[in-house]
Amino acid sequence: MKSYQLTILPGDGIGPEIMDAALQVLDLVSQEFNVTFDYEEALFGGCSIDSNGVPLTDETIEKCRQSDAVLMGAVGGSQWDNQPHENKPEQGLLKLRESLGLYANLRPATIYNALLDASSLKPSVLRGADIMVVRELTGGIYFGSPRGMDKDKGWNTLTYTKEEVERIARTAFELARKRNNRVTSIHKANVLESSQFWREVVEDVHKEFPDVFLNEMYVDNAAMQLVRDPKQFDVIVTQNMFGDILSDISAMITGSLGMLPSASLGEKHALYEPVHGTAPEIAGQNKANPLAMIGSAAMMLDYTFEMPEAAGMIYDAIGEVLELGFRTEDIASQNTSVVSTTEMRNLVLERCADKSDTIIEMVRMSYEG
Ligand code: IPM
Ligand code: MG
Repeated sequence: MKSYQLTILPGDGIGPEIMDAALQVLDLVSQEFNVTFDYEEALFGGCSIDSNGVPLTDETIEKCRQSDAVLMGAVGGSQWDNQPHENKPEQGLLKLRESLGLYANLRPATIYNALLDASSLKPSVLRGADIMVVRELTGGIYFGSPRGMDKDKGWNTLTYTKEEVERIARTAFELARKRNNRVTSIHKANVLESSQFWREVVEDVHKEFPDVFLNEMYVDNAAMQLVRDPKQFDVIVTQNMFGDILSDISAMITGSLGMLPSASLGEKHALYEPVHGTAPEIAGQNKANPLAMIGSAAMMLDYTFEMPEAAGMIYDAIGEVLELGFRTEDIASQNTSVVSTTEMRNLVLERCADKSDTIIEMVRMSYEG
């Protein structure tokens, strides 16, 4: 039996509740798919500031380094707003990404048909859209130096090296091959030298992937095109800050930020987290939408543990629960039944349990056949 070590970082706000839901789904996976997950929990974010004085301790980083994957809830909240800038929960997140070398951030925006009405965009614009935002996560203006502020000015630096652009471009082209074979490289080469450089390096890497279609777009136009006609995109590859912004836009295509999972991948480590934040206004009330966290656990099964059947089972279960009309408050609409976090978790568990027997039989037959 395979056995994996996971570091669990529930974080702040709704983090612990949604993490609990995801771990129960993983427990079911381990029963059904002959695998065990050992969980080791660590403090990260505001809760770590409260206990340790800093959002991310070296000990937590080391735990993450020692594990096969990291599952994270969400960090932050207004009670830590008065922390000095370098000690805010968000800075802990940036340090974690950097320490683990998580340069490739995958943010899929998949439209569940059942949620076509939840978006502020027209169903006719959305139907069939399926976008993977590949955001560079450890470089660009988030990490460049010099940086700083004094009373007269504030400054940051945007740099990209060849190696940084090459590896994220490869990630994007490789992913496109498993999807619809299209990559859009998004930059601002009409203004920024760093973007001219980005464009050239992506074009060079493209020569290794002649079978994949590449097009380019300025980031301002891309923001417009995402809401005008999202179906034109397959894989989007872009720098850290543009990816931050565009992935929030693509999230709204799915109707709710509460639906989106993500993967942050490096050479050695991988971290999975929902795209949404800590939603402190509903924390502890059993109202949070656990689906992005459960989806993040499914992405982990897919990308790190190469268990596509288990991942598919979870994605399908989520789709079915939505088809059946169950919604947490954030995605509720007319004629749907509002359920709590734990009810939503149980519905997903039930659908998974229903499917797992069939899937296991199919996997067994594929090995034998
Ligand atoms: C995200 C968030 C973070 C980012 C913040 C919390 C530092 O917005 O993961 O998209 O900007 O990367
Ligand atoms: Mg963001």
